[in-house]
Amino acid sequence: MMGMKTLLLVSLLAVLELTLAAGSHHGRSMPGSPVNISRTDRGLLQVVLSAARSFNNQSNDAFLFKPSAIHRAQRQVVKGVRYIVDLEISRTVCRKRDNNNNLSNCDFQPEGRLHQTFQCHTEVWVMPWQNETRTLVFQCKP
Ligand SMILES: *[C@@H]1O[C@H](CO)[C@@H](O)[C@H](O)[C@H]1NC(C)=O
Ligand SMILES: *[C@@H]1O[C@H](CO)[C@@H](O)[C@H](O)[C@H]1NC(C)=O
Ligand SMILES: *[C@@H]1O[C@H](CO)[C@@H](O)[C@H](O)[C@H]1NC(C)=O
Ligand SMILES: *[C@@H]1O[C@H](CO)[C@@H](O)[C@H](O)[C@H]1NC(C)=O
Repeated sequence: MMGMKTLLLVSLLAVLELTLAAGSHHGRSMPGSPVNISRTDRGLLQVVLSAARSFNNQSNDAFLFKPSAIHRAQRQVVKGVRYIVDLEISRTVCRKRDNNNNLSNCDFQPEGRLHQTFQCHTEVWVMPWQNETRTLVFQCKP
């Protein structure tokens, strides 16, 4: 019985390894552990903007929030690319009801009652050859 289970586990691992190896044909690097990436990485910027969009979509706040800092930016090659990002999102002076669609024109709230920052963690999985982006985790806390 034990032997059978071990064998099964070994073959499962082999399948998993094969799958990961196949994934690496689509990316530039070998599958592995998360590595730090530049703050100007294009994929990272999209992940960060989409986090702000989700945050604004989910909040009942009268004002729009936008990214104010990136504390961790990593990517990992796993059948595509997984981005792992810790960022801060802060309240701007732009009101939601004004339908401002360009956050770069929105300044942050000055120190005071309306100044607020959330710490967010997001993990996004991009599978370019399937034209698919999946948000695996998106959590924010004050
Ligand atoms: C959030 O997005 C959904 C679906 O795209 C939309 O129907 C809803 O109005 C949005 N909510 C806010 C607060 O923007
Ligand atoms: C990766 O970035 C984190 C935080 O930005 C830093 O603490 C860590 O030392 C970096 N690791 C490497 C290998 O550069
Ligand atoms: C947003 O505004 C900035 C600064 O005014 C400008 O450089 C940028 O092109 C605008 N982006 C869009 C998508 O309109
Ligand atoms: C990928 O998805 C985008 C947005 O959903 C769509 O506009 C585009 O046509 C798609 N491209 C392919 C090759 O499927």
